[in-house]
Amino acid sequence: MNEGSEAKEELRRGLEGVLAAETRIGYVNGSDGKLFYRGYEINSLVEQSNYEEVSYLLLYGHLPKRGEYEEYVKRLREEMPLPDEVLSLIKNIGGRTHPMSALRTVISYLSVLDSMESDSSTKNQERIGISLIARMPSIVGAIHRVYSGKEIIKPDPELGYASNFFYMSTGARPDPVESKIMDTALIIHADHGMNASTFSALVTISTMADMYSAITSAIGTLKGPLHGGANERALKMIQSVGRPENAEKVLKVMTDKGERVMGFGHRVYKVYDPRAKILKRYAEYFAERKGNETFKTAQIIEELMINKYGERGIFPNVDFYSGMIYDAMGFRTEIFTPIFATGRISGWVARALEYSTENRLFRPKALYVGEKGPRKYIPIQDRD
Ligand code: CMC
Repeated sequence: MNEGSEAKEELRRGLEGVLAAETRIGYVNGSDGKLFYRGYEINSLVEQSNYEEVSYLLLYGHLPKRGEYEEYVKRLREEMPLPDEVLSLIKNIGGRTHPMSALRTVISYLSVLDSMESDSSTKNQERIGISLIARMPSIVGAIHRVYSGKEIIKPDPELGYASNFFYMSTGARPDPVESKIMDTALIIHADHGMNASTFSALVTISTMADMYSAITSAIGTLKGPLHGGANERALKMIQSVGRPENAEKVLKVMTDKGERVMGFGHRVYKVYDPRAKILKRYAEYFAERKGNETFKTAQIIEELMINKYGERGIFPNVDFYSGMIYDAMGFRTEIFTPIFATGRISGWVARALEYSTENRLFRPKALYVGEKGPRKYIPIQDRD
């Protein structure tokens, strides 16, 4: 079998629409705009559950019984504090690079401190996965603090996962509404089908590499503006539009130039993203409370975009309103994508573990469209 050299098979750029694995973890219904984790609809989890429980559900396939829940939460709490070496690394990186690059580096560095890194047994990779789930809020919180020139804050064992994340990032204990919003943001980002970063994690784990490597790959992939990086750019775009009455003109310039408007469109959803619907309510809550115009501007952009592109299936996605909410809660723009990663870590780990139980090395083919050859080699001194 050759690497593809004739287009006998259909070329599927970006593997679009290709079924490459089975999963029981999550299901995205793009035509009806619904998202399910292990059969539970996202809205019911947001209303009734919390991130710890959802994380357990993604990993183990069922909602935990009380004893299972308590044991899982205890484990997360115990693993949350970071080793001093990691804190030093975060301080050393400081504000020199984007927080996503810092996050990628820190996750990779954690493997240096783990003598069991390469034991590829499921039990060991699950151990690593849970420790990464536990440490993610502490790492992202510490990166946020250092990036903002502030002291790192240690986790408070009295707080839950989302509240602790809020506390370690902003230095303030969240009020009940902020705590609920933080929890919601993490839940709705926890899993989302075969998205690019999850696929990246699976490709890495399929080589029987370790969980640190899989998560490092995923973080690198999430960084891009067509994936997780869109939340940061979406808010910057809304803020650059400024007053609501500027929206029409600015948007026209952007779309006339063929620019992609960040926070709109999705490979799977061709209707309103259910996650964006949930977040929009919270963005409105903060807009009413804080009285700024950003939400109004965003609403006009949304209306204009839907009028122009709705028929083509382009609607707001999760990244359109998330940035506005994080901003209102005191997070810096550069930390928005690491917040996405903090939610998504459970999905990455769950799917990497699931894939590794029936592992098949990912190795698609590329259609070769270069010179067929063989070309004659010309020594360097004879080349024109
Ligand atoms: N603004 C303007 N036009 C768009 C947009 C957009 N945001 N999204 C798609 N289009 C147009 C695109 O230009 C193309 O037009 P044409 O057919 O004339 O060339 C058409 O719609 C189809 O685009 P596509 O790239 O083939 O569609 P896709 O379904 O593969 O795109 C996407 C998915 C997310 C890459 C794209 O919608 C996009 O670039 N959005 C902006 C970035 C963004 O918000 N990303 C976050 C995605 S949700 C969070 C996550 O999962 O990471």
